[in-house]
Amino acid sequence: MSWSGKLVLAACGLAASIACAPNHASRNEVSAPGLKKQLFGRTAAGESVDLYTLANSHGMEVGVMTYGATVTSLKVPDAKGNIADVVLGFDTLEGYLGAHPYLGVVVGRYGNRIAKGRFSLGGVEYRLAVNNGANALHGGLKGFDKQVWRAKEAGPSLELTYVSKDGEEGYPGTLTATVTYTVTERNELRIEYSAVTDKDTVLNLTNHSYFNLGGQGEGDILSHIVTINADRFTPVDSGLIPTGELRSVQGTAFDFRKPTAIGERIDAAEEQIKLGRGYDHNYVLNGAGGGLALAVTVTEPKSGRVMLVSTTEPGVQFYTANFLDGTLKGKGGKVYQRRYGFCTETQHFPDSPNRPDFPSAALKAGARHQSATVFKFPAAPGS
Ligand code: BGC
Repeated sequence: MSWSGKLVLAACGLAASIACAPNHASRNEVSAPGLKKQLFGRTAAGESVDLYTLANSHGMEVGVMTYGATVTSLKVPDAKGNIADVVLGFDTLEGYLGAHPYLGVVVGRYGNRIAKGRFSLGGVEYRLAVNNGANALHGGLKGFDKQVWRAKEAGPSLELTYVSKDGEEGYPGTLTATVTYTVTERNELRIEYSAVTDKDTVLNLTNHSYFNLGGQGEGDILSHIVTINADRFTPVDSGLIPTGELRSVQGTAFDFRKPTAIGERIDAAEEQIKLGRGYDHNYVLNGAGGGLALAVTVTEPKSGRVMLVSTTEPGVQFYTANFLDGTLKGKGGKVYQRRYGFCTETQHFPDSPNRPDFPSAALKAGARHQSATVFKFPAAPGS
């Protein structure tokens, strides 16, 4: 699954163009230009967790912590330049250490579901930790989202590395995964993933941020206007495992080829909508495999805030937070109700290890996996 050679992952001269973020509080350490670091807290095992802030000179600011390589905040301008935090999360590490549905984290080793937590590779059957009914979801009981990643400042970028041991959660091979976060002067959050393994394995890394472009906690996302560059999606069974079919979106509630409000058909009387309790489906992106390509565009009509998602991945899970239920209290005391966020999880298709006809999520021993996703927030329409 190596995309190397196809990608232009260079940081486009960012070092020169990223401005110095002001050092607001004296307890904050000044790091590389645009990077700030502070202690966020400690895990139950006593490991320290740092919170980094990446910023540009337009006021865009992204918080990333070393626990779960998690995006904790994403402050971006709207059409008039007003800044809001557009991702759900918690004010403290304790919030993230408690049970929550993967807010802002990097999921791995295999994001999304693997049927019955089983797959075969090279003639060997592997059994994974099962944590979602009969299936494995987002890497198992203690996935990459619940690990403390090692941080390295690389110019204006933050590099986070986690070494997952052979057999962890049932996966073969010791895998070294690195996620690099960069905030550019073009109001982009670039996320670059790279990994190597010492034994053939499977891999699906993505970021699980819940967005609300009207501001986190400020109501549901039903009025957001979405375009997805996909003619097909992967329908699922009652356990949200793909049936194997690549179904046309034509004439269904899944057709987002033209800008459409999320709420327009989210409760349509269609079997797939009922199974997902809304949108919780993988889209087959058009023209994947040729490098970074625009996958999703989202506009929030009230603020005018826009997000463009480009990726090298072949799929995107469009999830409308159907399982949020008002029991989580997030940043600023905001209560997260059903459909208060949406996720665009760029990815290989769910259950790919059991679907030889899907793009392969296998990573060979000694090969390097590379992928990238860019979230862009144009300051003004068209910029
Ligand atoms: C899955 C949902 C799940 C959510 C939180 C999404 O990626 O597709 O089914 O509820 O993550 O775990």
